[in-house]
Amino acid sequence: MDNCCGGGCCGEEREESLPVLIPIKKVITESPRVKSYLFDANLNASPGQFIMLWIPGVGERPVAIYEEEGSFRISVANIGKVSGELHKFKAGDRVGIRGPYGTSFTLPRAKGDLVMVAGGYGIVPLAYLAIEAQKRGYNPTILNGARTAKEALYQDFLKKKKIKMLISTDDGSQGKKGYVHQLLLEYLSKNRKPKMLYTCGPEIMEYNVAKVCWAKKIPLQVSVERYMKCGIGVCGSCSVDPTGWRMCMEGPIVSGEDLKKITEFGKYHRSASGMPHNF
Ligand SMILES: Cc1cc2nc3c(=O)[nH]c(=O)nc-3n(C[C@H](O)[C@H](O)[C@H](O)COP(=O)(O)OP(=O)(O)OC[C@H]3O[C@@H](n4cnc5c(N)ncnc54)[C@H](O)[C@@H]3O)c2cc1C
Ligand code: FES
Repeated sequence: MDNCCGGGCCGEEREESLPVLIPIKKVITESPRVKSYLFDANLNASPGQFIMLWIPGVGERPVAIYEEEGSFRISVANIGKVSGELHKFKAGDRVGIRGPYGTSFTLPRAKGDLVMVAGGYGIVPLAYLAIEAQKRGYNPTILNGARTAKEALYQDFLKKKKIKMLISTDDGSQGKKGYVHQLLLEYLSKNRKPKMLYTCGPEIMEYNVAKVCWAKKIPLQVSVERYMKCGIGVCGSCSVDPTGWRMCMEGPIVSGEDLKKITEFGKYHRSASGMPHNF
């Protein structure tokens, strides 16, 4: 991070792996489960990378980032201890940040159509990617899947940025009724052949999207989330079978070809204790 903290440590030398406490600039309620937190700081991140977010005395967790010049945001679903605590935070409260870490999405050499398939907070890195791609002359379209209309995130935000978005909801309350990979199949049936497809969201969704791409020979890049403790390649908690790749270092962004080598993808993941759990 460059000149980022506002916490009194600017100018001091510090280890890359130490968190820096920075104040939240603004909190936005995105949906009943998700809040966004805006920060006045520059991470020099690339789309798809993540930070480790630390709440002193509570815990540290990986989260994706959206960055614009001089500021960044995260969007966090309230599902447990750390995220639940964060949801109580207001503007001015401080959180610890380490990073950015991990691999990022890459753009194809040839300009043309790109598709981003998002589920839930998976929209965060894909929104960042779509905006960067559009700036560079690509033609991105986001397919945004959610359980219900209220949970289809970033709609107004991306409309203002003039990014094309199609929605699917499981309950049919907005857009196409059904899963987002079904919306993808419909989209591709209109004779469309994107130069690259990117996906981030619940793993079963990503797996269904990957199967569509593999069958139709569309190159893809996928964000693979695993349990992360250190975020810097030391603890091994985010390693995948059978390659041993650490998703905080060799991931989270993985190409469609490499994904085929991760045999646990779409089947199981490991918890904090290292025990496998089926999806
Ligand atoms: C690369 C990456 C990017 C992510 N980006 C986002 C994001 O943008 N927004 C968001 O809401 N969530 C994101 N997550 C998931 C987020 O880390 C978990 O939702 C969060 O850790 C939950 O913590 P908790 O203490 O609230 O819940 P807990 O009660 O501790 O856990 C609830 C569930 O969250 C997951 N989880 C908990 N700790 C971790 C961990 N250290 N690493 C991975 N998963 C964990 C597990 O599936 C666990 O069962 C991301 C995860 C990864 C790996
Ligand atoms: S989180 Fe420790 S090696 Fe990846």
